[in-house]
Amino acid sequence: MERKKVLVTRKISEEGINKLREHFDVEVNEFNREYTYEELRKKVKGKDGVLCLLSDKIDGEIMDIETRVKIFANYAVGYNNMDVEAAKSRNVYLSNTPGVLTDATADIAWALLFAAARRVVEGDRYIREGEFLGWSPTLLLGRDVSGKTIGIIGAGRIGRAVALRAIAFNMKILYYNRTRKEEFEKETGAKYVTFEELLEQSDYVTIHTPLTKETTHMISDKELDMMKDTAILINTSRGPVVDEKALVKALKEKKIWGAGLDVYEKEPEVEEELKSLSNVVLCPHLGSATDETRIKMAVMAADNIIAVLKDREVPPNCISL
Ligand code: NAP
Ligand code: GLV
Ligand code: GLV
Repeated sequence: MERKKVLVTRKISEEGINKLREHFDVEVNEFNREYTYEELRKKVKGKDGVLCLLSDKIDGEIMDIETRVKIFANYAVGYNNMDVEAAKSRNVYLSNTPGVLTDATADIAWALLFAAARRVVEGDRYIREGEFLGWSPTLLLGRDVSGKTIGIIGAGRIGRAVALRAIAFNMKILYYNRTRKEEFEKETGAKYVTFEELLEQSDYVTIHTPLTKETTHMISDKELDMMKDTAILINTSRGPVVDEKALVKALKEKKIWGAGLDVYEKEPEVEEELKSLSNVVLCPHLGSATDETRIKMAVMAADNIIAVLKDREVPPNCISL
């Protein structure tokens, strides 16, 4: 019997690719960059399954190009790049990689929080530029973290992992989620507040919702105005959840104290002015970027494809049912 054909839209961990190769003919993007939409359109032709990235736009048009494709398996937990309704109406499966990247992403949120609060990146730059002349009572003063209030927007898997870490820093935990999470409250001691209360009362505001119509520009001028002028905003969710121009303005006018960002509105473009501000720490979308986590994601995405194409089952991490 002819082997089924799978496209992998960017080189990922060998563990995932080798698993796929046991069962299918696998074509891996050989460029050290993502496919353009045009290239993707060409490459899906003749395939039965596609392992794709969060930057690949998977819409109805791509699905219609090759109706043999039974599954698009995202190499990410967020799937705002995929049109779920289009997949449902075409009986195409979509899957993601939940859970395996929760800790790594919560860790990056905390890395950004500490880096912004304690001016780690500015300090590093200061030394490399030969400025460090000795301990000083007024050098690079930051903000306390321990004992402060953290506000978590989106208390799902990653929001929960962020809250569990906050307990160790003796923080007061506030959260806002579209549904109340009593289990999460019991486990973390977090208090459910309104979105406005969270913004007004938190020293650290950290976002962990998916990108949807409802969450687009959830943080803009009005919300930044509501925050304390000593507050720090952390975003590891998706860029468009924060209005980047409004954030630049708030940081410039010191309406908030600082920010730590892993994601951007027009990735990989980053608002020019953000790069010139010293009160923001910028990471290039590194949430899940550890050796261990990326292997788990690769295996998970491969398993979703194997379930559909080999075992004729629903993928274990299906998001389109
Ligand atoms: P999750 O478990 O689905 O959690 C998302 C949470 O957001 C849920 O509790 C959900 O509430 C809540 N939510 C959804 N819409 C909301 C709204 N309009 N207002 C308030 N709360 C809302 O997802 P996760 O695994 O934690 O991942 C969260 C997101 O992080 C992903 O979608 C992805 O975009 C991002 N991410 C980024 C990186 C990175 O590299 N920076 C890595 C991994 C993930 P309900 O319980 O009511 O549904
Ligand atoms: C990364 O951003 C993800 O959604 O997995
Ligand atoms: C600082 O290094 C101190 O000892 O207080």
